[in-house]
Amino acid sequence: MAFRPSKQGMQSMIHDVQPTIDRYPATLRILHCVRAVLIIGLIAAGWTMTVLNDAVASKYDFLYPWHKSFGVLVFLIVLAQLAIRGLSRLPGPAPLPAHEKMLSQAVHVTMYALLLIVPLMGYAMSSSYTHSDGVFFFGIHVPELLPKNDDRFRVFQLLHKTLAYSLLALIALHVIGALKHRFFDKDRRTDVLPRMM
Ligand code: HEM
Ligand code: HEM
Repeated sequence: MAFRPSKQGMQSMIHDVQPTIDRYPATLRILHCVRAVLIIGLIAAGWTMTVLNDAVASKYDFLYPWHKSFGVLVFLIVLAQLAIRGLSRLPGPAPLPAHEKMLSQAVHVTMYALLLIVPLMGYAMSSSYTHSDGVFFFGIHVPELLPKNDDRFRVFQLLHKTLAYSLLALIALHVIGALKHRFFDKDRRTDVLPRMM
């Protein structure tokens, strides 16, 4: 008699070949955490350096160069995250109701876009401003690819500022969502924190 595995048997065979995972890989979890700390620090430093009086020496000697270096670092981390993401096996979609799943995916995609565009606008601003010292990445001079032009600088400056604070608003929404699933949802299966923590 020919061997015919049951439906359950088939599922377990498939499961053995391609076991599902319920957490993001450790590298992505660590980078998510490191990047979160860096971004909150960058937004706090960015805001501080723009409100500080020009007479405060640390404004241009300390805050500007470190903001630029860590800003470029975040850009590189996001590129690394996207590459690792593309090469790794990821958990399936979060077990959320359809409308929350759509909202969380839209927020993730928009955050990834802003995480690339905000540092690029920072670079474009620093590169195009006629009085800028240029961009240094922890002491290494990053080539300035844009021509000096103060009108364009003002556009990049406005974009850098508006998009950085938009990113902050999305981060707040993202964190409130994660905490809501942990502490307020009745269904414990929607707690997505262990997937990333
Ligand atoms: C600067 C701060 C943060 C940024 C920019 C950020 C960004 C992101 C992005 C882009 C993803 C999608 C990951 C992917 O699919 O590749 C993600 C996932 C996630 N983040 Fe954050 N995050 C931040 C802070 C936090 C914090 C503070 C928490 C916890 C309270 C958190 C909880 C989560 C969770 C649980 C997921 C996985 C969601 C899921 O499985 O669908 N994040 N985050
Ligand atoms: C994810 C990365 C980054 C974030 C979240 C961020 C965030 C911010 C914020 C919130 C401000 C204050 C804006 C204001 O209130 O006027 C700021 C200012 C600034 N950022 Fe960034 N930044 C990032 C990356 C960069 C990079 C890569 C550079 C340059 C290479 C840069 C250069 C600047 C400069 C020069 C200012 C001062 C603008 C001014 O004087 O009006 N930033 N940034």
